[in-house]
Amino acid sequence: MRKILVAHDGSKSSDKALKKAVEIAIKFEAPLTVVSVIPELYLTEIVETDRARISNALTEETKIAMEKIRASLAGRAIEVKTVIRQGDPAEKILETAQKMKADLIIAGSHGRHGAKKFLLGSVSSRIVDHATCPVLVVK
Ligand SMILES: Nc1ncnc2c1ncn2[C@@H]1O[C@H](COP(=O)(O)OP(=O)(O)O)[C@@H](O)[C@H]1O
Ligand SMILES: [Mg+2]
Repeated sequence: MRKILVAHDGSKSSDKALKKAVEIAIKFEAPLTVVSVIPELYLTEIVETDRARISNALTEETKIAMEKIRASLAGRAIEVKTVIRQGDPAEKILETAQKMKADLIIAGSHGRHGAKKFLLGSVSSRIVDHATCPVLVVK
């Protein structure tokens, strides 16, 4: 196992995925990349200034979340990199995995806004469908 990519969206489920990712990364002495994707806002009803404001708030929130993750892992025997992307979450996560040649992608089963009645969230299910490396979905 060389490189691990974990997808984090600020949800409890992605916190569990991160925890598992850290355990595995330590065990395999594998470098860990944490990716968080800021989704594009497609709502046509919102005016441009609101769109910019929401987008800035999301960006700020994501930066803080990534900063917290880095700080929480600072003392651990693990090489951690955090990356923030913008766009379609599943697409950007898969693209990040391809570019870094990830050997394993780890994601939570659910995210922030999903319907729990589904076995898998929409992002994690698209990752499982399209990834070219093994995927671990953490419940
Ligand atoms: N914007 C995102 N950035 C990074 N990872 C994400 C993002 N959205 C979802 N994920 C990953 O996918 C997992 C499942 O989320 P998702 O499929 O969006 O479920 P839901 O449909 O319940 O929101 C999350 O726990 C996280 O690991
Ligand atoms: Mg989601």
